[in-house]
Amino acid sequence: MDRRTRVAISTGGSIVAPEPLDPGFVSELASVLLEASEVRDLLVVVGGGRTARRYIDACRDLGADEDYLDLVGIDCTRLNARILIAALGREAYPGVPATVHDAVEASRDHPIVVMGGTHPGQTTDAVTAMLAEMAEAEELLILTNVDGVYTADPRKDPSAERLPAITTGRLLEIVDTGEYEAGSSTVVDAVAARLVHRAGITTKVLNGRDLEQVRSALAGRDFHGTLVTPGNGDR
Ligand code: UTP
Repeated sequence: MDRRTRVAISTGGSIVAPEPLDPGFVSELASVLLEASEVRDLLVVVGGGRTARRYIDACRDLGADEDYLDLVGIDCTRLNARILIAALGREAYPGVPATVHDAVEASRDHPIVVMGGTHPGQTTDAVTAMLAEMAEAEELLILTNVDGVYTADPRKDPSAERLPAITTGRLLEIVDTGEYEAGSSTVVDAVAARLVHRAGITTKVLNGRDLEQVRSALAGRDFHGTLVTPGNGDR
């Protein structure tokens, strides 16, 4: 029997663990993931969101160093992963793998594996890109709180336009060359962009709160967001 294809999914903390928590929405997201897992294996990485920011800020005020703050952030991503695992039930691996290697191993027996961060100094987008590469995933989905990659930060620049389709090389230029203001969080983290470009991984960026679009993207249909395909230049 052919091995099922895999998809790696980065789910922002703002999607899985908004404030206040929204278990009703997490349950609907879980239904969409369960439906997709009937035909493909899913490897999901959950971000820290507000939970991580609150804990990191508090520990920074208490004098903790950056390495410690990253460990606090990682703990929050794993806590957020637990919410999604609770909603997925028996189809999901019940633990939270601590490394991408452990996640790929767990995925051999479970159609859905959910994890958080792994090592200090990076974000969960980068973890998802490493996971996609190690798992030889067919594609990577980034479920975030904006509806795709824009020419500039749409929260700051009203003339910013959504790019429906770009190459991984163009994505890298956008996140890496200061087209976004320094210090602002880009929709796709630069380390993740570099990894998907290098590995040639097709990446879909979309709003994770819009479950119809998530369903379409997972099923390989058209979706509202940004389709990032391997290559250089415009497309
Ligand atoms: P996130 O991946 O959620 O960071 O991890 P982010 O992209 O800043 O968050 P969003 O997208 O705005 O919600 C939260 C924090 O956890 C630590 C980092 O400190 C990060 O800022 N972290 C996470 C790590 O140190 N290593 C990891 O592998 C993941």
